[in-house]
Amino acid sequence: MKVKRTLPTLVLMLAFTFLLTACSTGRSDNMNSVSSSSEESVSEAVANSKAETLSVPPNSESADNAVLVAYFSYTGNTEEVARQIAGFTGGTLAEIQRAEDYGDVREEAESEILEGARPEITVSVDNVEDFDTVFVGYPIWWDEAPAMIATFLDSYDFSGKTIIPFCTSASDSIDNSLHIFSELCPDAIIADGLTANDEGDIEPWLQELGFIQ
Ligand SMILES: Cc1cc2nc3c(=O)[nH]c(=O)nc-3n(C[C@H](O)[C@H](O)[C@H](O)COP(=O)(O)O)c2cc1C
Repeated sequence: MKVKRTLPTLVLMLAFTFLLTACSTGRSDNMNSVSSSSEESVSEAVANSKAETLSVPPNSESADNAVLVAYFSYTGNTEEVARQIAGFTGGTLAEIQRAEDYGDVREEAESEILEGARPEITVSVDNVEDFDTVFVGYPIWWDEAPAMIATFLDSYDFSGKTIIPFCTSASDSIDNSLHIFSELCPDAIIADGLTANDEGDIEPWLQELGFIQ
């Protein structure tokens, strides 16, 4: 009797253990699939959030071939030219500013150019490297580009992109300031620059470059 009672109990225990193992294996599989599907959701979310962060400029269907018109302007002349270029090309404007104001601009601007300084800058557009063509405008200071332009050129990878310099000045031409483009962006295509002191020169120059038919 004792043996008879024990045998069914043993069979029941074995069946119960088997069921428990099967259930626990099933739950573990489920856990794995939940965890891997939640990993996918995270990476999808990261990809989606990146896609939302990357702003595609309004002047093109994709960022390819898009035009950026980046400029530094101390008293507004270069900004005016930048706005005209953006108007003609449908480009996106990006203002470059010195993070700290100058005290004595003439003295400080000259010494930082001579020293090859890289003053901290702010740029009003985040996705500079999404643009294939970048106009870069500045006032001529001491026959050179202001040091903020060197900081700008040093801050991004312009390899394979087209950079188009332009400037305004009291009288000097852009020529003497152009060396920093090939020095700081050796793998970029540097277009002929424009000294844009005469408003009437802007449209023909853009025509020559192929932006206007
Ligand atoms: C610090 C400083 C240095 C300058 N150096 C020159 C120069 O060497 N040659 C020149 O033709 N104009 C020079 N200028 C005049 C500016 O290039 C000119 O006024 C320019 O149009 C100003 O542009 P913005 O209004 O965009 O700042 C200088 C102006 C400043 C403030």
